[in-house]
Amino acid sequence: MNRETADKRAAELRRVIDHHNRLYYQLDAPKIPDSEYDALLRELTDIEERFPELVTPDSPTRRVGAPPLDKFPAYFHRTPMLSLSNAFDDGEVEAFDRRIRERLGAETVDYTAEPKFDGLAVSLIYEDGVLAHGSTRGDGFTGEEVTANVRTVHTIPLRLLGEGVPKGLEVRGEVILLREDFAKLNRAQREHGEKEFANPRNAAAGSLRQLDSRVTASRPLSFFAYSLDWADGLDLPPAQAEAMDLLVRLGFSVCPERRVVSGTPGLLAYYREILARRDSLPYDIDGVVYKLNDRAAQETVGSVARAPRWALAHKFPAQEALTEIVGIDTSVGRTGVLTPVARLKPVFVGGATVTNATLHNEDEIRRKDVRIGDTVVVRRAGEVIPEVVSVLQDRRPPGTTEFRMPERCPVCGSVTVRAAGEAATRCTGGLFCPAQRKRALLHFGSRRALDIEGLGEKLVDQLVDRELVKTPADLFRLRREDLVLLDRLADLSSENLVQAVARSRRTTLARFIYALGIPDVGETTARDLALFFGSLDLLMEARAETLRFVPNIGVEVAASIASFFSEEHNRQVITDLREQGVEWEETSAAEGSRPMPLSRLLSFFSIPEVGGVRAEALGRRFGSLEALQAAEELDIREVPGISPGAVEGMLRLRESPEFLNVTRQLRKCGFTWTGEAPGKDEPEAEPSAVSGKTFVLTGTLAGLTRDEAKEMIESRGGRVSGSVSKKTDYVVAGAEPGSKLAKAEALGVPVLDETSFLALLGHPHE
Ligand code: IVH
Repeated sequence: MNRETADKRAAELRRVIDHHNRLYYQLDAPKIPDSEYDALLRELTDIEERFPELVTPDSPTRRVGAPPLDKFPAYFHRTPMLSLSNAFDDGEVEAFDRRIRERLGAETVDYTAEPKFDGLAVSLIYEDGVLAHGSTRGDGFTGEEVTANVRTVHTIPLRLLGEGVPKGLEVRGEVILLREDFAKLNRAQREHGEKEFANPRNAAAGSLRQLDSRVTASRPLSFFAYSLDWADGLDLPPAQAEAMDLLVRLGFSVCPERRVVSGTPGLLAYYREILARRDSLPYDIDGVVYKLNDRAAQETVGSVARAPRWALAHKFPAQEALTEIVGIDTSVGRTGVLTPVARLKPVFVGGATVTNATLHNEDEIRRKDVRIGDTVVVRRAGEVIPEVVSVLQDRRPPGTTEFRMPERCPVCGSVTVRAAGEAATRCTGGLFCPAQRKRALLHFGSRRALDIEGLGEKLVDQLVDRELVKTPADLFRLRREDLVLLDRLADLSSENLVQAVARSRRTTLARFIYALGIPDVGETTARDLALFFGSLDLLMEARAETLRFVPNIGVEVAASIASFFSEEHNRQVITDLREQGVEWEETSAAEGSRPMPLSRLLSFFSIPEVGGVRAEALGRRFGSLEALQAAEELDIREVPGISPGAVEGMLRLRESPEFLNVTRQLRKCGFTWTGEAPGKDEPEAEPSAVSGKTFVLTGTLAGLTRDEAKEMIESRGGRVSGSVSKKTDYVVAGAEPGSKLAKAEALGVPVLDETSFLALLGHPHE
């Protein structure tokens, strides 16, 4: 192909490609398949590569973008790009219309009315029918020249259509992203692991102001023309509405919702109509714009400062506002799905005061990284539920943590907890969850729990399947008549079962706790809990922080226990069981019977700048919790080796509800706090109390069986012997003791009753 034929073919291709581009992007009526369009574009690209001197600025190959710029050149607008005065209510619209009528001495005036696009204002200059400059509004006088970027927007003609094109032409309008394209763009951003845009306007502005126009080319921008500002070699039509029609003929997209209306009633009717259609329009708008239709009259009315007197933006209520997240709750929908809901500082948005906004689901929270304390953009569109759109990361207060959603057990509705770093969830309802009815009953009646003889798998299957028993409490309601109908349960054995159930009513606290089937609570932990609290009520009200003081219980088990007892469902079954007469002996530790070093109490709370050494110094200085609580700030500051941060931390701690609740609960368990920390060479009280010691048990203990007592001694390093000798350290005597008690007394071996025995065992581990 020689240069001349190439030139001809290129011109032909440009015309054909432009035509199909317009059919596709502006008229939404493609006539050829994409592959054919691509083939035409490829052919043109090849020609232009072989003969670079043939490339024209209006070539559709320019739509793919050009090499990046260092910065945008300044562009001086021919005439300033004005802004619009705003009206927020009907009165202001009426006043606008009245002023214009007065200035013109007219009875009624016609206006064009059109939506106010929420995008980015752009000026386009055509020279000899070819797009020569595209620029942003900037400060109204000087903008940025973004010609290469503007060329990538498919709804901006690179060459004007029709015969007799003017020598020069300026068209202004708005670059926007249609909602559909915005969603597409954000989906692509998400897939590429890139940041999503908060709204179409930000996305449009960010895309148009790319130094690398190839990036702009990859963004599906649109353009709507709203004014014809200058024409050289063409008579401008006398009315704004006609100018818009001319723009359509020249190849521009003009908003199809534009209308000519008459007087205030016409303006307000238009406003209401568009407001009602706002959410169903394919693009975001933030109001409507009224313009005096007669261009000569526009001249007469004139402009003030930076806005024309002949135009007005009538704004819709803002759909977005900034506010703060004060909390995040989860609400359970009809279908049981958990929806996180942000509790907000009240804010006026979308025409109403909003205090809650949906966060949709956990993925959304993660994606937007929403945290309590964040400043966020809240959006309320029409009747749609308000939503949190985005977080202002740079306004995040220090010390926030990632939000983790609780989940609900689909069966019992218990909130499931997640151990740190663990993906699996489990139901805090534990065995009490109806999903585990059968397992719960078997566990409840097992030998080490309530020990209900004869409550085996087959029987449990039938009891549950026939709905005779739902929770363990129902066992105590069973009558012989309910049972005789069951398979292979003769009259006699049904009587036996009723009696076995009745017998199990008297139990021990440790067994009862174990029987509850709390996740992570086995027999040993159940015993530790019983020993520590002595009463079910104290255990049930214990906060997770208090549970941490129980020997051998870590953060996760503590959380699991607290969470189990916080479930209404579980508390109800326990109440039922007690009403059914299930009972046990409780012990209450005497006030102050369990001394603990104050430093140890403090070391359980993470107080800024207070480690073991400072905790001990504080303990030595104040000697008791009461003294520490009563201390003046000055006294704390004078503690040797203390830092200002540590003083601050202490002051905060002693007033915190967490600290006050934990110490209150521990006090009820007999704890008291003293100054002296155990010395280095002075053995700690607890190990010496049991470990290495020999015990002899006699008589019946009320709160635990012989086996349990034995296990508890052994688990603490002690030994249990069957007979009393001089080597025996303690004899533990329950009710109706045997000859062993007499022998102990004869040999002078110390004798413990149940309470002192438990106190000895229950001395907290160090
Ligand atoms: S006419 C002198 N018409 O609103 C009048 N502006 O505050 C010039 N805008 O930055 C503007 N939709 O980008 C006009 N249909 C519309 C509009 C519109 C949106 C923007 C424009 C300008 C701002 C004026």
